[in-house]
Amino acid sequence: MKIQIINGPNLNLLGKREPETYGKQSFEEYFSQLKSRFPDIELHYYQSNVEGEIINKLHEVGFSFDGIILNAGAYTHTSVAIHDAIAAIKTRVVEVHISNVYAREEFRHKSLITSKCVGLITGFGMESYAMGIQYVQNSNS
Ligand code: DQA
Repeated sequence: MKIQIINGPNLNLLGKREPETYGKQSFEEYFSQLKSRFPDIELHYYQSNVEGEIINKLHEVGFSFDGIILNAGAYTHTSVAIHDAIAAIKTRVVEVHISNVYAREEFRHKSLITSKCVGLITGFGMESYAMGIQYVQNSNS
């Protein structure tokens, strides 16, 4: 089973960025823990601060992988193009957020991508990613 994790803008700074909201762990460190927790899954990780590059990655993996875990960062709240890319591909996308976006500013309450995703996991810290992987694993077995 192949699962792609995609992180959007500013998520390369996890561990350094607003640790009171996003925690102290870098994604690279968490990703290596994920790989040991899910040894039977081929896990891939991609991060970009550029909207078009996120879309290119969705197109690249979106017809062959078993699932995509997407944290689109702030593009969640603004990107019609990412909404359209998720609609265009075959692989199911799980939307994840580290923080609980509904407990934060009002502009984070609106997601342009949820309607095209299989579901939304928000507010469980880094565990949101593991929960998304668990869902893909269970739904494909
Ligand atoms: C985020 C929430 C977004 O509102 C924010 O712009 C991010 C991170 C999260 O994981 O909690 O960059 O997606």
